[in-house]
Amino acid sequence: MDACLEPLLDTFPDLSGAIFLVSKTESSVSPQRPSAVILGAQWGDEGKGKIVDVLSEKFNIVARYAGGHNAGHTVIIDGQKFVLQLIPCGVLRPGCTGVIGNGVVLDPMAFLSEVQKLRAAGVHVDGNLFISNRAQVILPYHRMIELAAETAPGRQTIGTTRRGIGPAYEDKIHRNGLRVVDLLNTSLLRTHINNACHEKNTIAHALFGTEPLDPKQMYEEYARAAEQIAPFVTDTAYLLNDALSAGQNVMFEGAQGALLDIDHGTYPFVTSSSSTAGGAVTGTGVGPSRIGTVIGVTKAYVTRVGEGPFPTEIEGELAERLRARGMEYGAVTGRPRRCGWLDIPLLRYSNMINSTEWLVVTKMDVLDEFDEIPVCTAYEIDGKVTSVIPADVRGFKSIHPIYTKLKGWKCSTEGITEYDQLPRLAREYLEFLERESSAKICIISTGPDRGQTITKPGFDELFAIKD
Ligand code: IMP
Repeated sequence: MDACLEPLLDTFPDLSGAIFLVSKTESSVSPQRPSAVILGAQWGDEGKGKIVDVLSEKFNIVARYAGGHNAGHTVIIDGQKFVLQLIPCGVLRPGCTGVIGNGVVLDPMAFLSEVQKLRAAGVHVDGNLFISNRAQVILPYHRMIELAAETAPGRQTIGTTRRGIGPAYEDKIHRNGLRVVDLLNTSLLRTHINNACHEKNTIAHALFGTEPLDPKQMYEEYARAAEQIAPFVTDTAYLLNDALSAGQNVMFEGAQGALLDIDHGTYPFVTSSSSTAGGAVTGTGVGPSRIGTVIGVTKAYVTRVGEGPFPTEIEGELAERLRARGMEYGAVTGRPRRCGWLDIPLLRYSNMINSTEWLVVTKMDVLDEFDEIPVCTAYEIDGKVTSVIPADVRGFKSIHPIYTKLKGWKCSTEGITEYDQLPRLAREYLEFLERESSAKICIISTGPDRGQTITKPGFDELFAIKD
């Protein structure tokens, strides 16, 4: 009997007659991970774009798994700014392939315009970028319905990006959607557009008085777009699984943030897809046992765009300072972002629902000038101290955040690349965050450029670089 099995038999004596197969070679598990999900730990805009770009040198493929062109990923390389909304940031790194998974909703026009901008900037996309044949397509009537619903009197406003994301997912779940594979089938496309326009025009006119869209013109435009999109389309589930089997590294790039997840977020003020780590599985066709680790990206404080609960939101002069220093304006809509202090109960919740192992902390330098930095460590709800996240908006409204005030470091951290060079109080802030959130900090971002990054020792070795 192998000594390592004895404790098991103490716990489960009924197994005493069982035969155990113990692989000696597997007892020394390699710490290397062939794949990672990287996602926003808050309400989006945590600066994932830069982090995906930094990490993409370790990965052969970067795959988007949810959302659409509502995401705004800003990457600055040698002073040149790229704002990608649909195409995974990985394509900016030569040798890294981009994949748009089946969980994404694809606006063909937005895709083609991004491709054109990337080509003009000299980025290699042809043969290096693939779209899942099973991804759903956003059509103009999705935008029409969303715009009308969001602006109709008496309706609950979500503050969406008005890109038609929600209505496209509605059609998907209603089994009424058009997938990329169907977009390439011209006769099916014509029939689909004719039927859908009839239905959506009737609904939008009856409910909101909206002017109807012309199906003939729509068909012609989308059939032309389909021809340009066709070379990018493939079955990306096979592509990704084959790549993993061949020993390649794959990064699953989240969009938005965990708290905007359709199931786990601050419903109904959420996006319409699974932005949490689980979405990487359903949104790409790669099973959970092939996901190596989960990396959450959190700002050193919190922001949110659109409506919905935000327990640590601040207003007035302090909020203005955070907004101005952090340039907190939406990358997609330009809207000023709501700002507030770091919320540990929410971060812990986010780490729990994603199994987040690693944390990336961005925008550290934005806090450089504050005398003290409050961090919410628990909530008081109806006189009771808790860190359990309420499920409904009413519960959120009764939260009184309990703050611990940490001393500010009052000097510049901008551009620092070594952890030891951070001021002592900044390190204490990070260590506090790490302790309280139960995830290990692996990267700290000290500015928008690729180079303005601290990687903690040991993290890089997790991902062996493959040719
Ligand atoms: P939708 O995704 O356009 O349906 O918008 C739903 C909610 O998600 C709104 O509150 C949006 O402001 C928010 N949202 C969508 N995409 C992003 C993003 O990339 N960053 C931050 N918030 C987002």
